[in-house]
Amino acid sequence: MSAPPSRPTAPSWLTMPDDANALDPAIWPASAARDEAGVLSIAGVDVGDLRDAFGTPLYVFDEDEVRAHARRAVAAFRDATAAHGVAARVYYAGKAFLSTEVVRWVTAEGLAIDVCSGGELEVALAAGVDPGRIGFHGNNKSVAELARAVEAGVGSVVIDSAIELERLAAIVERRRVVAPDAVQPVLLRVNSGVHAETHDFLATAHEDQKFGFALEDAAAAVARTRELDALAFVGLHCHIGSQIFGTDGFAESASRLVELHAALSEDGEVPVLNLGGGFGIAYTSADDPTPIEALAAGIVDAVARECEVRGIPMPNLAFEPGRAIVGQAGVTLYEVGTVKPVRLGGGAERVYVSVDGGMSDNPRPALYGAQYSARIASRVSGAALALVRVVGKHCESGDIVVDHEYLPGDVAPGDLLAVPATGAYCFSLASNYNYLARPAVVAVRAGQARVIVRGETIADLLSRDAGIAEGNA
Ligand code: LLP
Repeated sequence: MSAPPSRPTAPSWLTMPDDANALDPAIWPASAARDEAGVLSIAGVDVGDLRDAFGTPLYVFDEDEVRAHARRAVAAFRDATAAHGVAARVYYAGKAFLSTEVVRWVTAEGLAIDVCSGGELEVALAAGVDPGRIGFHGNNKSVAELARAVEAGVGSVVIDSAIELERLAAIVERRRVVAPDAVQPVLLRVNSGVHAETHDFLATAHEDQKFGFALEDAAAAVARTRELDALAFVGLHCHIGSQIFGTDGFAESASRLVELHAALSEDGEVPVLNLGGGFGIAYTSADDPTPIEALAAGIVDAVARECEVRGIPMPNLAFEPGRAIVGQAGVTLYEVGTVKPVRLGGGAERVYVSVDGGMSDNPRPALYGAQYSARIASRVSGAALALVRVVGKHCESGDIVVDHEYLPGDVAPGDLLAVPATGAYCFSLASNYNYLARPAVVAVRAGQARVIVRGETIADLLSRDAGIAEGNA
């Protein structure tokens, strides 16, 4: 493949690939491959067949890839904690991508489930999860949501505020009319003051955000929890952020939490310390996240050191990975609709490749400036490379799917385009902007594909408009 002239518009992190058909194993599911004709398949299912059966855009999840990440996370945290003689419970943070199928896969691989709304709770319960393996989060859980969680018997509720503490205790008291022994295990979410921002973290004494109790208020909240018969205090919780690449932020946060944990241990047992999720993944070949085994060992060893310094026994630990379980297992398939070279001045040119989805199926580039990569999926090409921007079909210039990528310059209408690493926070954040119907989710495994969440139709969307007379939609 011949290289194009230098492109001043390409960011420095983007390297020109030797082969723009290649599938980097750091960002694609392990099963992604091309057949002799060059067509991409995932778990043995050809993307052309997926398009014919389900249309595009389409979220494709590789079941074995999800299961493999789940097993790997459980093993990483269990091995790291076993080295210090304690246990780890690993929750899957369902907000990354939730459906009853994914809940069944990850619980079969040994994970518990973290939910953060009444709706997420219903999905987990509908999947048939043992409620004792559900942790319930959220900074503003309603009375109805808390009552449902208590009635269902969720394993733990992570309390976020003083108001919620009293609200939950009152709900459990009422529950005692029918279930006299009812006691709800709770953790208290603490704002450690460490806010991890992708590759970096900045530590401030009072972080200006909505979650949890300030470190200095937490001891009083725990004391109040311990006064309430209806609640059983089991430990502290902290989540410092998402898409974190190193251990420094976790270690700093763990150090602050263990200090509090040690003080609380003087007045009673504190069996668990939950350090949340946030373990980063690669979205492009330029990303270099720390492997989960090294992250787990680094974090757990930091907790062990802090406990040793304070002369307290090490608690059991809990973690809540979301993205690290499902991110790499998801690939979004699009069809190219138009291709438009745009002259940028100074001899530079950017090719805009428009696909049939966009910010409604993946708002992460628009929301966070997230970078992705792409490949032509329906064929291979040896054409000279073009610097492209893959964009959606929404009426907004920020409707970007892949900001910067080199694709074969003959990319054309009708090509299937695949964007890897879309398994986390794409389906979850999807919208109906511009009245686009949200795509189906298909699971692929051993050469078979099946719908796990059906796609919306325009009729679904119109059916919500009260001004459309029955039968007219
Ligand atoms: N635990 C708690 C309490 C959380 O709030 C989160 C994520 C997680 C666990 C899982 O974090 P993960 O391991 O997936 O990084 N929409 C954003 C991410 C928001 C994350 C919110 N909380 C994105 O698309 O990057």
